[in-house]
Order: sequence, then structure tokens, then C-alpha cells
Amino acid sequence: MAQENIESTLHEDRQFPPSESFVQQASLHAADLDKLYQQAEQDHEGFWAEQARQLIDWQQPFTQTLDSSNAPHYRWFPDGKLNVSYNCLDRQLEKNADKTAIIFEGEKGDVEHISYRELHHKVCVFANALKAQGVNKGDRVIIYMPMITEAVVAMQACARIGAIHSVVFGGFSASSMKDRIEDTGAKVVITADGGNRGGKVVPLKDTTDQALENGCDSVETVIVFKRCDENITMQDGRDVWWHDAEQGQSEDCEPEWMDAADPLFLLYTSGSTGKPKGIQHGCGGYLLNAITTMRWVFDIQDSDVFWCTADVGWITGHTYVAYGPLATGATQVIYEGVPTVPDAGRFWDICARHGVTIFYTAPTAIRALMKVGDDIPNSYDLSSLRLLGTVGEPINPEAWMWYYNVIGSGRCPIVDTWWQTETGAHMIAPVPGVTHAKPGSCTRPLPGIDAAIVNDDGEEVTTANQGGYLVIRKPWPSMIQTIWGDDKRYKETYWPYFGGKYYLAGDSARRDEDDFFWIMGRIDDVLNVSGHRLGTMEIESALVSHPNVAEAAVVGRPHDVKGEAVFAYVVLKGTRPDGGIDEDLTQELRNWVGTEIGPIAKPDDIRYSDNLPKTRSGKIMRRLLRAIAKGEEITQDTSTLENESILLQLQGKA
Ligand code: WTA
Repeated sequence: MAQENIESTLHEDRQFPPSESFVQQASLHAADLDKLYQQAEQDHEGFWAEQARQLIDWQQPFTQTLDSSNAPHYRWFPDGKLNVSYNCLDRQLEKNADKTAIIFEGEKGDVEHISYRELHHKVCVFANALKAQGVNKGDRVIIYMPMITEAVVAMQACARIGAIHSVVFGGFSASSMKDRIEDTGAKVVITADGGNRGGKVVPLKDTTDQALENGCDSVETVIVFKRCDENITMQDGRDVWWHDAEQGQSEDCEPEWMDAADPLFLLYTSGSTGKPKGIQHGCGGYLLNAITTMRWVFDIQDSDVFWCTADVGWITGHTYVAYGPLATGATQVIYEGVPTVPDAGRFWDICARHGVTIFYTAPTAIRALMKVGDDIPNSYDLSSLRLLGTVGEPINPEAWMWYYNVIGSGRCPIVDTWWQTETGAHMIAPVPGVTHAKPGSCTRPLPGIDAAIVNDDGEEVTTANQGGYLVIRKPWPSMIQTIWGDDKRYKETYWPYFGGKYYLAGDSARRDEDDFFWIMGRIDDVLNVSGHRLGTMEIESALVSHPNVAEAAVVGRPHDVKGEAVFAYVVLKGTRPDGGIDEDLTQELRNWVGTEIGPIAKPDDIRYSDNLPKTRSGKIMRRLLRAIAKGEEITQDTSTLENESILLQLQGKA
């Protein structure tokens, strides 16, 4: 196991207990939490069974809690039957039919309030439309949508009829989309004529057309939602407008009763090797942890206005936009655009106007908004906020303190939530009415989550602050079921060591004197750019597919807003540009990567050298490249380098 990525991070001793005002209104207190821990400790499966009985409406109750017969493909609540959309919508109708489910705000300022009754209606009609297009239980549906209510409607409609959705982030390119369509064998693509982002229209339908140009034979139908009145071409016999597909469809749609372990969705994410992998989540277990974490970590209550700023293209937008808030009958905000349109006050403006009480975003957004100063947030009334959250990457103490003091006025606890696409829901996170937070720590594993730090031999690291591998030792309900179509890769990626008994998260971490967890970084070649996972190999493959590029190596370097920036070393097929500088080519390569993967993967820096530094066995010396990218002193042995001048080239000094 290569542990070279492990870097020691912050040491932070400040502690922030929840404010009195928060504790008074919190639904979970220390004694309740202790009880949950005790129950989980005494009987892991019994604990989750009890939660599942209390929090999910089952069409057919389960009699078995966990089927481990085909481990590590665990099946939770295997003989139970349920429908996720029923649990999110139908069961709210009795008490909450007129309650606002979604407050939608477009980037241009259009606002719509959608009640649970209306949302239920929309989902049922669209679910029937999907059925009329020939979508059956188990079929795969690609969703490539702007961040609008209909994205959630599409996901819920799939869940209702048992189709497996796979959302592709609207910022991904045609080629990324094509990969996902082909891997899933999707029958239908749901998209829009465009979406508003950053003052421009994202041409989602055009990109879809490009993706489908050659290959993608499985796709029979493209359903297009009209959002922007864009001039697009509709292909006869393949493309149908959303509103036409809905014509004449009934508002009654009996949910498809699913086995708890049937797949609910696939979501592609980057690993250290190969193409992005389709993480498969099931119905019952996933739903359960979406609900438990909404309650334990977000303290969700009837009067809350919840806002998770993530796009539905990421796991955070699945669990904490499309499913968790609805399954707990909450009111949530959905915002279409970027935080800086028309100015950097947009998030705070939305919080103030819609009375947001719980706000959840990524450290990269906090750092970007912190940069513009305190005056902007200070000019909004943020007094409705009671809880703040972060996700996706480590938050530096400076950003934490700013969030806490300037946005939360020292009144709102911050929940720093560690989890992954694979874990489905929060795993290590504070319980805000109880935990004394420390800036930069995700604090403690939640009840029923057996997270630990182990060494190479799988033994628990017991010395405080000593780093190791973050593992999860017992199965939990919302865990990844498999990698779509590749059980072998699933086992090799997540269960490679420790006798296949522990789930390997791919992060390193340490545990301090108070048993608080501190995430230190990835142990693999995965970058975390603005909270988004990118495989270095994916970017390298994109670069070498350019006709001028012979070889490429990609590493991360620290970036004060994005967390990590993409740093690429490139060897050209022809000669190296004079002095290593060729602005035009650099721009071309950046755009090339943007087209191959998506703009988020564009390298921030590109260095040209005659060669890449390799070990005698031909392995790229990534550690050296990382050190150079960071501008560090070179302490490694570079004697294997063919000529020393390469070192100067890599450093940009020659
Ligand atoms: C990182 C996002 C530090 C981590 C939900 C993990 C974090 C990867 C945190 C998963 C956090 C996520 N503190 N690092 N609170 N949350 N990460 O799949 O490296 O997009 O393995 O899921 O993000 O990213 P993913």
C-alpha cells in the first residue's frame, strides 16, 4: 500500500460546544445519542433493523436484516419491499400535502414554491410518461439536467417505477456522458434545452446530441425539458419534449414495490485506475441512512428550510437534495445557478429571502466567498440560520472560523461531514446539539458506523494522532452494493486488504486524544478539486489522446480556494517549446481536457519537459512531481534521472 500521499495536517485544539440556543431547540441530546451508540454497540444489526422499522414505510416488512452470504455484496433488509418515491412523497400527503417541498430559484431570479401535493403530482405524471416511453423496472435512465425541480422529478419518477437512474453532472462533456451511457446501457436520456449557469446557457441538448452521435445504440428516446427556449434540433423518432411526453398521462401511478436490495441508482465517480466506475446503491439501506443522517446530523425539524447547494450530479445532491429532505418531509431550497451571479452575495441573499435555517455547502465555496470579504454577507439578514454544514474536502480552520463567525454569528454549530459516493450518506460527522466541534475535524463516527484507523496489517492504530488507513469494519445500510457490471473491480478496489473484511475508504486519517477523526488526504491517485473527485489517470488519458502529446503525468498542488489544483507535466511528440513556454498550446491542451472530461478537470498548470522522471522499473516518480508542483525543496533521490536538466525543466527553471 503506497502511503506516500499521507501528509500531516492541522493541529487544532479549539473546541466549540453548541450554543445554548441551539441545544434548546435540538431534537437529539447527549443522553439520546449515548443510547443510540449503546444500542448499536450491543447489537449492530438489531440497531439498524429497529431504525428501519421506525423510519421507513414498508409495503412488506423485512424478516431478515442483513444477508452476508455473498459478502462483500451485502444485502440489507433482503425480504422487505418498499418504494423510495412512496416514502418521499405519498407518505407526506396525509399531514404535509400543502407544505412546501421545494422552493425553486432560477439563476435569473424566477421563484416557485412547490408543495408536496404538487410534487407528488408531477412525479406521478412523469413516471407514467416514462412508462409510456417503454421504461420498465430495472432499465437504466441517464439524467443530464440543469439544477431545476424537474431534475428531482426525473429521479423520483425513476425511483417510482423501479428504473435505475444515473445522473450525469451538467458540467461533464459529451465524451464523459457517452462513457456513462455505454457503461449503463441506458434506454432513455432525460435532458433539457439548456440550463442557466454563470449568466450563460449550458447547451445540454447539444452536448447530448454529440454524445449520441456514434455508438450509444441502447438509447431509444431522449426526453427534453424546455427550460431556456433555446433553438435546438429535435431528432425525429428519437427526441420528445417533456411536455409532449406528459400529454394525457394520468396522475395516478402505483409505485413499483421493490426489494430493498434492488438497485436505486448508479453514480459514476473517479478512482485511481481506469474509467469512472458506476457506484451502485440499493433502495432500502440507502433510504434509511438518508433519513437517519437528516435527523442526526442536520437535526431536521418540521419548521426548517433546508438548503444543500450541491448539484444532483454528485452524491451530495442525491442524498441531501433528491432523497433525504423529501423522505423527512422537509422544505428545501433548490437553486439553479452559481454563487456569484449577479454577485458574490447570491447565496446569502437566497438564505435571507427564503429564511433558510440549515445551510450545507462545500469548503471551496466558503473559501471563495470568504475572499470577497465580510461586507457582503454582513449586508444580509442571516438570522434565520441555525445550523451550517460542509462536505467534500477538508475545511481549513481559517475558513471554518469565518463560516462560524461571519455566516453563523457564533450561534450556529458547523457539521463537517465525512462521507463518499460509496458510503451513500454521512459516516463521520458531529451531532450538532451534542458534539463539541473542532475546526477541521469531522469529529466522530455516527451510531452504527464502525469506522477505524488501521495500519498496513489491518491492526487498529491506537496511538493518538498517528495516521493510518480509514476503514469501516462493519457493513452499514447505505453502503455501495457493487460497481455496475464489475463485481471484480468492486472487490479489488474496496476490499483488497485485511482478509476482505474491512471497507477501505481510500482516505488516510488520524484520531486525536478525544477520539476525533481528522481526514488527512487520499491514499490513491485521486484529486479533490473544489470538492470534486478526479482521477489523475483520467486526466492523463485525456492529455495523451491529443495528437501532440506523447506522455503526461498529473498531480495535485494545494490551492487556496479549490483545495487542490490540477498540475500536469507533459512530454510532447515533437520538440519541447522554447524555455518550456507555449501559451497557445497550453490553452489548447486545457480546452482539450475540458472537452474530453469537463471544465472542472482543466489543468491549472502545464509544464513541458523532454522526459518524465521515472524509477529504474519505469514508474513515474509522482512523489517528486508532487513536491515540484508544490514548489518544495527536492530531497528525493534523483540519481535515476537521465539528465539533471530535466529536473530544471520540471521546475520551470529551464
Ligand atoms: C473527501 C463526497 C475531508 C474524501 C460526499 C472522500 C472529505 C472524498 C470530507 C469523497 C470531509 C469528503 N473532510 N474530506 N468532510 N468529505 N471528503 O465521493 O477524500 O465526491 O474520500 O463524496 O471526498 O468524495 P465524493
